[in-house]
Amino acid sequence: MEPYLPEPNSIGTYFEPFLGGGALFFHLRPKHAVLSDLNAELIHVYTMVRDAPDALMAALDAYFEFRLDEDYYYSVRRQAPEKLSAEARAARTIFLNKTCFNGLYRVNSKGGFNVPYGGYRNPTLYVRENILAASAALKGAELMVSDYRAACRKARRGDFIYFDPPYDPLSKTSAFTAYTSEGFGERQQKQLATLFRSLDQKGCKVMLSNSATPLLESLYREYAPVRLKAKRAINCKGTGRGAIDELLVMNYP
Ligand SMILES: C[S@@+](CC[C@H](N)C(=O)[O-])C[C@H]1O[C@@H](n2cnc3c(N)ncnc32)[C@H](O)[C@@H]1O
Repeated sequence: MEPYLPEPNSIGTYFEPFLGGGALFFHLRPKHAVLSDLNAELIHVYTMVRDAPDALMAALDAYFEFRLDEDYYYSVRRQAPEKLSAEARAARTIFLNKTCFNGLYRVNSKGGFNVPYGGYRNPTLYVRENILAASAALKGAELMVSDYRAACRKARRGDFIYFDPPYDPLSKTSAFTAYTSEGFGERQQKQLATLFRSLDQKGCKVMLSNSATPLLESLYREYAPVRLKAKRAINCKGTGRGAIDELLVMNYP
């Protein structure tokens, strides 16, 4: 991806409106960033990592007082996050991510996390240096729970927006769009393409990655997307990990 990024000095604010794991943000470490995701639990974790890393790590240490087994996992999964303290709430999300099946994130129609127990023996819940490094990287970043469209309203000429939306499924059976209870289907991919064009017209630099499907190829044809082989750590079923064809769309040279 590196050769396709804009000149670091040529960009204003960096926007990553489908933040997820924030791989590109942590790679670029831009000075000014607006980071957002529709997933409130995820944004809460980043906010705690930025503002209270020590309290968060202490809350994670508390999990070692319990024996990790299936019953314990499901008792944590059942907890209502909004009833917990700020640090316990963020620690719960990290605990579930590290102990659930394959580190997947999936919710039911009511927005409740519903990935089953992973059965790992001694999962590492966190690495102190990584939390502190992430905390430092996030210091100047604005974090928001937001739909991607609202998050992009503040983008101005010269800003750089990176879209890594939920994947357009390669086949009907591989459809996995349940990051959020609303899902992300063909209609949403088309709306995103419309936003991509309007940001382009505004003078922003825009990059988007997604799977190389006929729908995506046709939505972004005018930008002559690049096809890449991308390694994915996680896919819909957590099996069949490996290289897939990915599309990279850019509106700048
Ligand atoms: C493919 S992941 C992003 C992966 C990320 N780039 C990374 O490095 O891990 C897609 C993210 O989009 C979020 N999302 C889904 N629909 C959204 C929407 N309408 N607005 C904002 N975020 C959304 C999901 O919660 C998920 O975190």
